[in-house]
Amino acid sequence: MKKITLRSGDQMPALGLGTWKADESTYPAIREAIKIGYRHFDCALRYENEKEVGRAIRDAIKEGQVDRQSIWLTSKLWNNAHLSHDVRPALEESLMNLGMDYLDLYLMHWPVALKPDVIFPDKGSDFLSLEQAPLIDTWRALEECVDAGLCRNIGVSNFSIKKLKDLRNSARIAPTCNQVELHPFLQQKELVEYCLGERIAVTAYSPLGSKDRPARLHQDDEPILLEHPEIRSITGIHDCTAAQVLIAWALQRGTSVIPKSANPNRLRENYQAQNITLNEDNMKRIGNLDRHYRYIHGAFWTIEGSPYTLTTLWDEPIS
Ligand code: A2P
Repeated sequence: MKKITLRSGDQMPALGLGTWKADESTYPAIREAIKIGYRHFDCALRYENEKEVGRAIRDAIKEGQVDRQSIWLTSKLWNNAHLSHDVRPALEESLMNLGMDYLDLYLMHWPVALKPDVIFPDKGSDFLSLEQAPLIDTWRALEECVDAGLCRNIGVSNFSIKKLKDLRNSARIAPTCNQVELHPFLQQKELVEYCLGERIAVTAYSPLGSKDRPARLHQDDEPILLEHPEIRSITGIHDCTAAQVLIAWALQRGTSVIPKSANPNRLRENYQAQNITLNEDNMKRIGNLDRHYRYIHGAFWTIEGSPYTLTTLWDEPIS
């Protein structure tokens, strides 16, 4: 199993299991995944299934299939707990849900803050601006969670190069990971290059295009990754599936990747993608598919009256 060495020296299995949208299938999927060989589980308080994730891992530990040290557990701080005094309680809530006494990695889920009593915004006044809840203050509270032994590593998600640079300039503990949407239609080469050059690991979310997203996150006429003819033509060369090509591509460019599946056959198929080596021509052909297309566009943070815009969220001009 390929591992990524973080700046702390800890080793994160490169292929993990995403748990966003896993719902009632979470427990059996994690139990099956552990049997197959998965050791990295990507969670978040917001996914509302940490209890099932934790129960499945603890049952596997009880039954002697695995031990805590060989599991990599990531969770994420939700946007409504960015104020300094809310950070540690939020992490403790995730630990309580999971039934664990530490996390391997804790990420700031978004560079967006909400008022403490808001889970998801429906009006402008539900937000806190970055002046009211500066990212560096949230980060300092995360650093204290490392000091307290509640998490071994801290990082961010959905951060641009600009936001990473700003954070690094003031951070005592440098971010160890940036988890962002990455797949052939959204390759973010500059961001990946910057992160890897700064020893910030990169984790690819929605690597298969997250077709099971809730309806409100679907856009009209969105391109379907798993059906793209170029991806499909590469499957023939390696006698593999489109999902395996996408996972192998992510691993081969040096990122960690967290495809979600709740289906035993697809869990195994995705795990076996680690055995596929794409050739230079395959990588080049996939490289040409980039169209900077976001499935998770972030518009839900930019509703009327919000202090955030798509330009300030991603720090890039929006076409
Ligand atoms: P399922 O859970 O039924 O397997 P992402 O990881 O980009 O969020 O994508 C998750 C979506 O991709 C889910 O709908 C999941 O369905 C599906 N999926 C996962 N693995 C595969 C696979 N090997 N082939 C096709 N679809 C897959």
